[in-house]
Amino acid sequence: MQKVTVQSPANIAFIKYWGQTKHNLFIPRNDNISMTLSGCITTTTVERSPDITKDTIEVRTKNGTYELLSQNSTKGKKAYEQIERIRKMAGSTDHVAVKSENSFPSDAGIASSASGFSALTGALLISFGKKDMFDNKKEFSKEVRLCGSASAARSVYGGFVELHGGNSHDEAFAEQLANEHYWNLVDIIATVDDDKKKTSSSAGHAAADSSPYYQSPVQVIQPRIDRTIQAIQDKNIKLLGPCIEEDTISMHMVMMTSVPPAYYWQPGTLAVMQDVMHLRNDEHIEVYFSIDAGANVHVICEKKDAAIIENALKQNKLVQSIIYNEPCEGTKQINTHLF
Ligand code: DP6
Repeated sequence: MQKVTVQSPANIAFIKYWGQTKHNLFIPRNDNISMTLSGCITTTTVERSPDITKDTIEVRTKNGTYELLSQNSTKGKKAYEQIERIRKMAGSTDHVAVKSENSFPSDAGIASSASGFSALTGALLISFGKKDMFDNKKEFSKEVRLCGSASAARSVYGGFVELHGGNSHDEAFAEQLANEHYWNLVDIIATVDDDKKKTSSSAGHAAADSSPYYQSPVQVIQPRIDRTIQAIQDKNIKLLGPCIEEDTISMHMVMMTSVPPAYYWQPGTLAVMQDVMHLRNDEHIEVYFSIDAGANVHVICEKKDAAIIENALKQNKLVQSIIYNEPCEGTKQINTHLF
């Protein structure tokens, strides 16, 4: 009997990953850039033993009990396949019992796949004797990518991280741009909808090419990627903010014009975007929005402005909850187990 526990954060993409070059290897079409989120952490314990007869993954619910993750759910399928893949790579026949919990409400509509899959992959690699792979973050990030939620690969490092696109497994790895102490940037997540998203990211990546607005990503996106890296290096929110918003809007334009289309926004999404624009234009606060494949809004600002922005967002009747995040360290092993 051997237990391994790993903790990992979610991340918010400043430059989004949407669309793939190789669907079977989950290789992003373009390089994408994110920041880790201190308020959205998953902890996962894996127990491996020849006495366990069947793989199980249980996820902690809000009332504290554990619920079995079904193999038939999108997430469950990816997670059980990741176990199978790593077991095979390690040449083992052992099964595992997995338990997992999130530091943030799992019913708030916040994507937990990045934190969940990076934590699971890390704990599995160590459990199956591949600690060298876990410690080599470049290799580790590629293993995480293969779980099918490629954005999770950005969670292996702390702070500000780039996941490369490309055409082969070896090209598509993550690397750190700056660590979690480099810049006091904050992501205040304003949740406005707790529904499960109706179009999965996998379906969205597959449909992206059908949008007329998804034609020349390299020419359009590369200058934005360069500006984003420069902005992080210079800690320049005035340069970063417009890149974040432009990238969010172009991704949602592709989503809404794909066949079939995906509309993620809700009335609360627009209401928070308007709050952000009001704070920026009328109150002269450097604050910007980012929206993933869901309705909730990530409000990005510097720490010195966070309290006033958080208060303003709390006045918005369509905001259900707030999750405050600073950049934090990436995936790490810890010594306390969940069971
Ligand atoms: C919109 O295929 O990694 O969040 O499995 O839903 O996490 P999930 O998605 P994945 O695509 C991420 C899509 C995105 C943008 C991003 O994080 O880069």
